[in-house]
Amino acid sequence: MLDHLTVVKHPLVQHKLTIMRDRDTPTAVFRQLLREISQLLAYEITRGLDMTTKRIETPMQPMDAPTLAGKKLALISILRAGNGLLDGVLELIPSARVGFVGLYRDEETLEPVEYYFKVPEALEDRLVIAVDPMLATGNSSAAAITKLKEAGATNIRFLCLLASPEGVAKMKEVHPDVPIVTAALDDCLNEKGYIVPGLGDAGDRMFGTK
Ligand code: URA
Repeated sequence: MLDHLTVVKHPLVQHKLTIMRDRDTPTAVFRQLLREISQLLAYEITRGLDMTTKRIETPMQPMDAPTLAGKKLALISILRAGNGLLDGVLELIPSARVGFVGLYRDEETLEPVEYYFKVPEALEDRLVIAVDPMLATGNSSAAAITKLKEAGATNIRFLCLLASPEGVAKMKEVHPDVPIVTAALDDCLNEKGYIVPGLGDAGDRMFGTK
């Protein structure tokens, strides 16, 4: 059972994250590190998955060997920066089903508005891992998770690279049943909603946009 918030303090995670935070780290290195770190975070977020056994034959003898139980899990990328985390996690869990949620913020109402939603069937029977590198205000992540619940998901975990205290509080208020796994809990948000000290705009840094 995961706590509501897990900060993965593993030395490799922290070392890679420091390089990612550095403003002088080039896009290609940032992208590669994101891929590597996402696999280490995925290792943590998949702790305690349901297991069963299956009968196999090793070269020596038959055995009942442990294997994952149930339907393939669903990875949901919250666009667009979620795709950077998705790639690495998918390398670790290649049989996962994949979905996408796209939201933008209405400038007048400031409410998240859905522009894309495509998820695997039978979400209610799967562990759903939603991925988005930056849990900042938490508004879009919380809204994306609400959409996933409306689509039937009941067992959801949230994977991010950095979290703010504000984002964690928002998620705890709206989705107390969704455990969060992150590489760091930063200090706060600035007036523009960026995580501080953070790493800047994760999408821009991974895609080389400005
Ligand atoms: N999104 C980002 O990419 N960075 C932040 O700091 C906050 C939201």
